Amino acid sequence: MEARNTKFFNKNDHKLVGGLFILVVLFLGWDLAANQWFSDSNGVAGTKDSIPQEKLWSAPSDSELPKGEEGELIKYGRELVAHTAEYFGPNGSVARYTNGLNCQNCHLNAGTQPWGNNYGSVASTYPKFRGRSGTIETIYKRVSDCFERSLNGKAPDSASREMQAMMKYIAWLGKNVPKKEKAPGSGIMKVAFLNRPIDPIKGKLVYDAKCAVCHQSDGQGVLNDKGNAYTYPPLWGKLSYNEGAGLFRMSNFAGYVKANMPLGATHNNPQLSDEEAWDVAAFVNTQERPKLDLSKDWPDISKKPFDHPFGPYADNFPEKQHKFGPYAEIKAYYEAMK
Ligand code: HEC
Ligand code: HEC
Repeated sequence: MEARNTKFFNKNDHKLVGGLFILVVLFLGWDLAANQWFSDSNGVAGTKDSIPQEKLWSAPSDSELPKGEEGELIKYGRELVAHTAEYFGPNGSVARYTNGLNCQNCHLNAGTQPWGNNYGSVASTYPKFRGRSGTIETIYKRVSDCFERSLNGKAPDSASREMQAMMKYIAWLGKNVPKKEKAPGSGIMKVAFLNRPIDPIKGKLVYDAKCAVCHQSDGQGVLNDKGNAYTYPPLWGKLSYNEGAGLFRMSNFAGYVKANMPLGATHNNPQLSDEEAWDVAAFVNTQERPKLDLSKDWPDISKKPFDHPFGPYADNFPEKQHKFGPYAEIKAYYEAMK
């Protein structure tokens, strides 16, 4: 509580704001309680999404592909998303721009998996304003962001056949979603908050037991036989995503692994409890990884997400709490400002 921004409270009616604050906290607590700590058939406790499988977004089928060059371009885009490293990685055949990850490593099944960080709602929601850049972003800008951050490299030119193909593919995937709408199951699942800071020490135990078999105990993954792509991608170190990437935010990492990892887990058949998902995020995201100049990010600091790990902030919660939580009170603080 002492972390509340006093400036804000001095300017306003104390009782009203205090009352609203409590209401928001109560509402949030109730909301979380409703979908927290279930126990499914696996005995895995935690967040579950309540949307039935058949209501979740799914990709158009290949029979909907346009004929001719247009269809070929879309298929080439899908190939580039699935096997990015073979084209742009350290031994890439088109250019050597990236760290060796595939888009698909984080956007599963070429960006079509429910709650696998899919591209279902990209065509319907872009161009859109994003607080990170403080600008209206096109699909090209958003794809370039992942080249520069998740792939820790540089993006191909927007006019190149490769970039055109990826953008066409992403637009085609989302063609059946009405403009401005977000398709259910697109993007990353939200995992209910813990009421304690997330813990890298507990996370290491999770990592050793459930992740190291594929990603290796040093986190460096396993290259394929040809040496041009990863069979198991690295999770940290100089070949991994950098500190400006989406997965470097704990909520994104926890949500991604909760619904998708260990490989084979799904949103309705998770293998990790909420605590395990958060703690393993804390462990992986405290290992060494490439840095990025973030000084131009979040020009309006009040738009930073609750778990953005770098200050300055428009609140008085310490940087450490933004990174490791507990997050609920930070979120409630911003909800109360709205
Ligand atoms: C290391 C993981 C990782 C890799 C590799 C990666 N991305 Fe992403 N990408 C993310 C995350 C995480 C987000 C979402 C962050 C969020 O929701 O705030 C994202 C978001 C996006 C979005 C916006 C999605 C939306 O619904 O707003 C697009 C488009 C995208 N990525 C394209 C790509 C492309 C194309 C590639 C390959 C060139 C790629 N990404 C590689 C992690 C990755
Ligand atoms: C059975 C092997 C296996 C296990 C176990 C496994 N993963 Fe993965 N992981 C993969 C593969 C393969 C991919 C890439 C998926 C693709 O490209 O389709 C991946 C991708 C990822 C990614 C995104 C890509 C990157 O390099 O950043 C993250 C993050 C991740 N795994 C985290 C975890 C965590 C955390 C655990 C343990 C809870 C785990 N994985 C367990 C095989 C595994």
